[in-house]
Amino acid sequence: MAALLLGLLLLATHSPGVPSSGSPSTPAAIAAAAAAGTAQRLPRVIIIGVRKGGTRALIEMLSLHGSVAAAQNEVHFFDWESHFQKGLAWYLGQMPFASPEQLTVEKTPAYFTSPKVPGRIRRMNPDAKLLLILRDPTERVLSDYTQVLHNRLRKHKRYRPVESVLVKDGRINLGYKALNRSLYYVHMQNWLRHFPLESIHVVDGDRLIRDPLPEMRRVERFLRLEPQIHASNFYFNQTKGFYCLRQHGRERCLHDSKGRAHPRVAPAILQKLYRFFRAPNRKFFQLVGRTFDWK
Ligand SMILES: *[C@@H]1O[C@H](CO)[C@@H](O)[C@H](O)[C@H]1NC(C)=O
Ligand SMILES: *[C@@H]1O[C@H](CO)[C@@H](O)[C@H](O)[C@H]1NC(C)=O
Repeated sequence: MAALLLGLLLLATHSPGVPSSGSPSTPAAIAAAAAAGTAQRLPRVIIIGVRKGGTRALIEMLSLHGSVAAAQNEVHFFDWESHFQKGLAWYLGQMPFASPEQLTVEKTPAYFTSPKVPGRIRRMNPDAKLLLILRDPTERVLSDYTQVLHNRLRKHKRYRPVESVLVKDGRINLGYKALNRSLYYVHMQNWLRHFPLESIHVVDGDRLIRDPLPEMRRVERFLRLEPQIHASNFYFNQTKGFYCLRQHGRERCLHDSKGRAHPRVAPAILQKLYRFFRAPNRKFFQLVGRTFDWK
């Protein structure tokens, strides 16, 4: 159960020299960027999810690479109608300034489970490369619950105990949205109607946390980036129990809010949950042609 402590986010500091998105693209800013040889570009790489899968860690680790320009904020362009209606010009305005050889990357974890998103991304760019980071589906549900719980506690709102949302009338509660988000094959089927499997790389989020370098090497290969991320970019922080990042002599760590302990769940319910996910997991493994060491 040590893995229950996982779930992570990095501090919002960013690689020096890469302007963050979210800053308004004023004419002056655009002129300055043009003079420096950089421009905003639509993303060719999108981190599509999954929520609580480790997307923040992934984009921060990817930003260690000099050929990556990552948007700082979650853009929610393809999943929020109010944003989507603003069109691609608005979307472009959310992107970081990048030099011509850099890949622009955006991450919005909700994309993976939003039915309309795959078709919309395909219409923008059928050759987009998609990164999907997944964790053990049971742990992802608990992490999802924990995040909502903390938000409600902070706002002094009432919350339901974990057992009562997971189980209804003695059975796993399929109406619980967080549970649905962990049915990875349901969502993957939808993506595969719009993109070939070769365009989607699945990052093993459990492994990324235990040992980031091999997973990041695979990501570099998938994106055809020269290998630039090294062991020296990572160091283990004993106090946190997580890896932190080191770049250009600067150190940055996972945000404390993301290493939260999950609520204690009655062992019988936990077992029920693990058992529940076995069949959906097998369906997912078949879809992607590989297995993961989920319980
Ligand atoms: C799970 O989510 C998908 C996609 O939003 C939806 O099509 C499906 O009906 C949901 N399943 C359940 C059991 O709620
Ligand atoms: C390690 O983590 C602790 C606890 O979050 C933090 O206070 C400390 O600054 C970190 N040290 C390093 C070297 O990252």
